[in-house]
Amino acid sequence: MSKLAMLGGTPVFSGGRPLEDPWPVTHAEDAAAVQRVFEKGQFVGIHHPEVEALEAEYAAFVGTRHALALGSGTASLHAAVAAAGCQPGDEVIVPALTFLASASAILHHLGIPVFVDIDPRTFNLDPQRVEEAITPRTRAILAVDLHGLPADYEALHAIARRHHLVVIADAAHAMGAVYRGRNVGSLGDINGTSIMPAKQLPTCGEGGLFSTDRDEYLNRASMVRMFGEIVRKGQPRAYNAYTLGWNYRMNPIQAAYARSQLKRLPENAATFSANGRRLAEGMRQLAGLVPPHIPEGSTHVYHMFRFRLDPQAAGLDVPAGRLARAVEEAMEAEGLPLRFYQNTPVPGQAMFQLREGFGGGVPWTLPGANPRRYDLEEYPVTLDVLEATRCIGRAGTSGPNYFGRPATIDLYLEGFRKLWEHLPDLARHARRLDYQPPWSNPAPSTRGEWDVLTPSTPG
Ligand SMILES: Cc1ncc(COP(=O)(O)O)c(C=O)c1O
Repeated sequence: MSKLAMLGGTPVFSGGRPLEDPWPVTHAEDAAAVQRVFEKGQFVGIHHPEVEALEAEYAAFVGTRHALALGSGTASLHAAVAAAGCQPGDEVIVPALTFLASASAILHHLGIPVFVDIDPRTFNLDPQRVEEAITPRTRAILAVDLHGLPADYEALHAIARRHHLVVIADAAHAMGAVYRGRNVGSLGDINGTSIMPAKQLPTCGEGGLFSTDRDEYLNRASMVRMFGEIVRKGQPRAYNAYTLGWNYRMNPIQAAYARSQLKRLPENAATFSANGRRLAEGMRQLAGLVPPHIPEGSTHVYHMFRFRLDPQAAGLDVPAGRLARAVEEAMEAEGLPLRFYQNTPVPGQAMFQLREGFGGGVPWTLPGANPRRYDLEEYPVTLDVLEATRCIGRAGTSGPNYFGRPATIDLYLEGFRKLWEHLPDLARHARRLDYQPPWSNPAPSTRGEWDVLTPSTPG
């Protein structure tokens, strides 16, 4: 039995090929689609044929009446928050574990993110906590299909109906996943997603897609995308803004590439799901390695594969956080990197701790807004998940780099099996670590550090 690589043994994977598969993969037809745009020579426009065709094809794929192409996933979510009718100081409920943009999209419209804890097994919004967080200022619930698994929409829509709220779905991690027979991208009243290159539906740059069944939501989002104007196809532009809008248009090059990639999304999503299942099944053979729970009726497309370390189940008397760190270090030495995805609940980031936002405490200090501070103890499940779990892969990568072929999964399984043959060594290493929880050292979070980053105000 070979020693652990971190103790001088031979690593399971020592190169020979790159561990990560390239993503996105550009096929000849993707390149030809981009070339079409150059040949046409028109490089902007909400009515550009490539942009309109992407909208129609995406709406048909996800199963909504309407879609809009925008410049980024963040823009699509900002447009969704605006479309939901969020007014300055309104609250939008959002999970404490997600990427910052789910929450900053709310702030962009002067809404106040209300962070809610997650389910310990799916890592998605916990509907019971959602209901407890509702106040008279709540306008919407912004659910995230975290890591590629759809949120619990049946429960969320039931809550929304009871309290007259809008459900916004952040589908950025889960393109190609299915929830009770319906495609991600159609599960919220309003849906936003990202198609930047790390995502399952990638484009050759930045991009986002908005989708909904309701005309009213589409119309509001269209104005947000185009300077606040209403621009009708075939009619002269009136140059009259009805509301504050931005320039959130998608480039036709990105639209053409995404259209071509959309054709392969179902096949790619099925591959990621199958290889994720393979890893989950292998992990279940090793007591104490816990793959993500997938509720009946959902598929998971593994933008991230987050798994839990359960020391008790492994028969080890070490805290889960220490075991997770030891497994991370041991796997790294075996040539099989593991990573964090977020090292603090989003409300632990400096902007929320300092309530900087737009400056002057806005939007938290807006008249009529509920006073709100973000205390990390309100998110015990998220804190536990951040300590006791890790994701497959190296920092800066995502699922498609690993879940494209069984051979990569089998390398990871070989690595985990090797570690599990050396559990006493792993436990010894875990006990000796100089250990701090991951959120104890996030980005600048004190006033002093922030002052260094901001120019002083004249006068
Ligand atoms: C969950 C989630 N929502 C929203 C976004 C924002 O998307 P974009 O980077 O395209 O603005 C991302 C990141 O890309 C994300 O991971």
